[in-house]
This record gives sequence, structure tokens and C-alpha cells, in this order.
Amino acid sequence: MFDNWEELEKSIESCNKCKLNKGRTNIVFGVGNKNADIMFIGEGPGADEDKEGIPFVGKAGQLMDKAFIGIGINRDNVYIANIVKCRPPQNRVPEKDEVAGCLNYLRNQVILVNPKIIVLLGSTALKNIMGDEHSITKERGILTEKKDIKYLPTWHPAALLRDESKKIEFWQDLKLLKNIADEQKLLI
Ligand code: URA
Repeated sequence: MFDNWEELEKSIESCNKCKLNKGRTNIVFGVGNKNADIMFIGEGPGADEDKEGIPFVGKAGQLMDKAFIGIGINRDNVYIANIVKCRPPQNRVPEKDEVAGCLNYLRNQVILVNPKIIVLLGSTALKNIMGDEHSITKERGILTEKKDIKYLPTWHPAALLRDESKKIEFWQDLKLLKNIADEQKLLI
């Protein structure tokens, strides 16, 4: 674990801990306010993110940005990262060994950002952070707390592109986030 961003970012530069390093154009480390109160965790980069080296810049990210604007969340005020930092082929779910190789980078990011709330975007984020027994269908929208950090699971924005009906629930979950942030005067 590193106690500063420079060393952490340097340590990942030539990462070859798993097979995803072979197909990547860029490592997609994370973006946003490194002192954010609120952190979002997704699954892994898609084609657009791999090309640009920035999380959530493709269609799913653009949809999330629209929801942010509608609700009053400033993307620059939050920190956004993924479970894996390199693109899985055909955007498949990252495999266990890939997650195992990458998760310490994310843990280190969480320690450095020190967020008050972590939003878990989709099943991969939920299961890899909270445990395999968790279910996004059952637990989305339900806030829990562990070691002084609140966790809010919600749909992954890509799921909204496949199923429009999830948009309302995603919106409700972000509204809940905004209400808590306003109440607690968090940066959002
Ligand atoms: N999906 C993710 O989980 N993360 C991204 O950065 C982009 C799409």
C-alpha cells in the first residue's frame, strides 16, 4: 500500500499481474476529486475507456453523466474508479484472477480518497467489494455501513441501456445519495 498518489500511480504503470494487460491500450486508473466524499466504483473499462484512459466516458458513462446533471451531482467533485483497470475482452465480466490481481489498487485508492459514501455500480462491484453472496437485484437502493463508510449499491448504468425500466430505480438511488449528501453537507 502506498500513502501517496504518485507512488500508487507509478506502481500500476507497467502492471502485468493478469492477462488483461495483453489487450489494453491504456490503464484506466480513476478520475475525479482525490479528496471526494463520494466515490463510484464500476466494473471495468469498455472500448471507449480503454482508448481514452478515463472511466465511464462511453455510452454508459454518458447516461450516468446525464443523471448526475439532472440530480445535481458534479462529476468533478466525486471520484470514479473500477474493479479492474484494464479492459476485459468483449467487455466480459472480469474473472476471479483478474480481480484478485487488481483489487489492491482499488483498496489503495479508497484509502487515499477516504470517501464517506461508496456507490457500487452493478453486480461486479457489489460482489467484489461486499462478498459473493450479495445480490444487486435484492440490495440496490439499500444503504449499509461498514467501518465508517456507507455503501450504496445501484444498477450499473450499462444495465439501463439494456432495460429502460431500471432508469427510474437508478434515479431514485442517486436521489437518495444526493439527499444524504445534502443532509451531511458532503461535497457532491
Ligand atoms: N463500465 C464500467 O464498469 N466502467 C467503465 O469505466 C465504463 C463502463
